[in-house]
Amino acid sequence: MDNPYVFITRKVPEDTIAPIREVADVKMWDYEDTPVPREVLLKEAETATAIYSILSDKIDRELLERAKNLKVVGNLAVGYDNVDVEAATEHGVIVCNTPDVLTDTTADLAFALLMAAARRIPEAQQYIKDGKWDNWSPLLLAGQDVHHKTLGIVGMGRIGETVAKRATGFEMNILYHNRSRNEKAEKEFGAAYVSFDELLDTADYVLNLTPLTPETEGMFNRDVFSKMNKNAIFLNVGRGGAVVEEDLVAAIENGEIAGAGLDVFEKEPIPEDHPLMKFPNVVCLPHIGSASVETRKAMCSLTSRNIRAVLRGEKPEAAVNWNK
Ligand code: GLV
Repeated sequence: MDNPYVFITRKVPEDTIAPIREVADVKMWDYEDTPVPREVLLKEAETATAIYSILSDKIDRELLERAKNLKVVGNLAVGYDNVDVEAATEHGVIVCNTPDVLTDTTADLAFALLMAAARRIPEAQQYIKDGKWDNWSPLLLAGQDVHHKTLGIVGMGRIGETVAKRATGFEMNILYHNRSRNEKAEKEFGAAYVSFDELLDTADYVLNLTPLTPETEGMFNRDVFSKMNKNAIFLNVGRGGAVVEEDLVAAIENGEIAGAGLDVFEKEPIPEDHPLMKFPNVVCLPHIGSASVETRKAMCSLTSRNIRAVLRGEKPEAAVNWNK
């Protein structure tokens, strides 16, 4: 029998794919570190036993219907909204992701973004680079405090808990809203469960960490921004699809909220003239939540181990539709 065939949609460190090479033939799309074109992905899917995907690859019903040999999709992310899990399950394809290994790193980034937006750090750096720093003045680039303020976390999973843990060090008051109660966040980090409206009404910092689902899509809209405090800063480290961006632009323009820190966008990548880029009080990052070298390598290794396990008929460490 032929070896399994694994198509990797992006260049990843060679040492991290050793587990896959033990059990399969591998092809990696490593053309100038660019995304794999859709036609190439569809063609590869026709013969692949496994696809090692990244979050910008659409693993949809069309692809899954063509993928007659496919057993597993190993997605290099904790989020898997780019994969049609229902269609994958119907076709007997296991979908794997990379939880846990990125929790601390992503929580670090969420907190860094909060602080950057609160204390106007990118703006302050730009001020020097633009040659504007010619004297010290009492309110020059004065931002908002973080310590003792109220943080409202929307989506209290593992990353939310870990942000809450960091927030305790800043003596913040922590509120959260989630589909279900999170006992650990409440007991260990003093987070208080509140309704969505109460969170919007009270928080100085509103942090979205929800996964993108039909329920969360577009949940941060005009109505929601209008319920936030004028001094509130909105932060998004979940998925851009949770936000109606034109409503966020309007809320910033009209001074309904004080600013934003965004690691994710409705349609990525964004161009430099994206409407949200024009505001000094909006900090934009290119989806780098889990981007430390250590964590990205750990995610790559986990993706490889997930794929190897399924190809060997074993239970992978992280799958979203394993039901055997
Ligand atoms: C990144 O956004 C991830 O889901 O891992």
